Amino acid sequence: MSVAKILCCLLLTCHLSEGKKIKGERASVADPEQRAVLPVKEPYVSSSVFSLFSGGEDTCTLDPLQLHTLTSCGFNSSNPLIIITHGWSVDGMMESWVLRLATALKTNLVDVNVVITDWLSLAHQHYPIAVQSTRTVGKDITHLVQTLQEEYQYPPKKVHLIGYSLGAHISGFAGSYLEGSGKIGRITVGFEQTVKCAHERSVHLFIDSLLNKDKQSTAYRCSDNNAFVKGVCLDCRKNRCNTLGYDIKKVRTGTSKRLYLKTGPRMPYKLYHYQFRIQFINQMESIDPTLTIALTGTKEESGDVTITFNDEISGNTTFTFLITLDKDLGDLMLLKLHWEGSALWKNVWNRVQTIIPWGGQEAKPLLTMGKISVKAGETQERTSFCAMSNDGQHLEVSEDKVFVRCKEDLPKQRRRKHNL
Ligand SMILES: *[C@@H]1O[C@H](CO)[C@@H](O)[C@H](O)[C@H]1NC(C)=O
Ligand SMILES: *[C@@H]1O[C@H](CO)[C@@H](O)[C@H](O)[C@H]1NC(C)=O
Repeated sequence: MSVAKILCCLLLTCHLSEGKKIKGERASVADPEQRAVLPVKEPYVSSSVFSLFSGGEDTCTLDPLQLHTLTSCGFNSSNPLIIITHGWSVDGMMESWVLRLATALKTNLVDVNVVITDWLSLAHQHYPIAVQSTRTVGKDITHLVQTLQEEYQYPPKKVHLIGYSLGAHISGFAGSYLEGSGKIGRITVGFEQTVKCAHERSVHLFIDSLLNKDKQSTAYRCSDNNAFVKGVCLDCRKNRCNTLGYDIKKVRTGTSKRLYLKTGPRMPYKLYHYQFRIQFINQMESIDPTLTIALTGTKEESGDVTITFNDEISGNTTFTFLITLDKDLGDLMLLKLHWEGSALWKNVWNRVQTIIPWGGQEAKPLLTMGKISVKAGETQERTSFCAMSNDGQHLEVSEDKVFVRCKEDLPKQRRRKHNL
């Protein structure tokens, strides 16, 4: 139990470390003057290996002491830097989501430097030891970012840290150590969902094999099919959902309730249900857009899914809809949206532009989005997505826009906060 508590503290740390001042952790952060002097006197020894990812299987190892490696690896200092950090490793291998995420970021954002933190030598230890190493790895990242700032005048604001499980703790530490020298751009963290499972890996694998043999589907109580396809019924509280098949829960209710689910065309029938909720703000012209959506999770990618709205979007509207996939994406990390404006709409837009000379290059059809969230029915987890850059939640016609898991999206931590 105490291990779990400590982890919660660490997770809180990484949640708070962006922007807001951290009180408890201050003592461990070197004061800015010391920091400026120390690295010059003694060369910093990093226990992590940083590689610049350039697509495919290609990575190029960076040596923070030999900055010319940056140039030869193709680091472009005009572009933002995303540092991805993996978590605990049972087998000494890099978790597969790291490369998948790096690839997704590189192909969708293009003008971006993607660096992968490899701390496998420390991550491949017993879990408690790996946990102890997270501060060290956090310092390694801090050192890299500071060196970039000192030698390249590369602003820490352009750095975005993405970490999952222990990688989230590391990103949090890196963010807190960097507080004095210039705030880091953004920290996106996935948090340890199954702390206990990490210890009891064999049990977890056993359960997993059972699940795969049997692939039990979940069905959800809903008033009618219309409501179900809008995705508003993925609620499991108060026995509103149940597993079908082998291990159905016996629930006594007075009246019979309708349960809904989507199934695949052949065995295994199980599909994973995802409810989308997208808020559109201040749409002046009513339009009926077609959106293409792609989700990247820690386990899988959804591929492109096309959604056509039946209702028009005008004023402020929140749309909900359901998509189903035959694979479990894992924890959701990235959402790509593409708006296919109709030809008709483009014509209307051209006409509007000539009447209203808003001018500038921004005179393009624009969808403005408010909150975007996705709830996975099977896990009951809701994930919110935020724009990566500061240009707001706008979507231009024919543009691919990538949203990442918002840093605020840590509901479990919040809940635990009250228990600390
Ligand atoms: C760096 O990226 C920018 C786009 O952000 C591009 O215009 C420029 O040519 C790149 N520089 C090099 C050396 O590749
Ligand atoms: C939409 O909501 C915004 C605030 O989020 C408000 O300022 C605006 O007036 C609303 N627009 C309409 C058409 O209701």
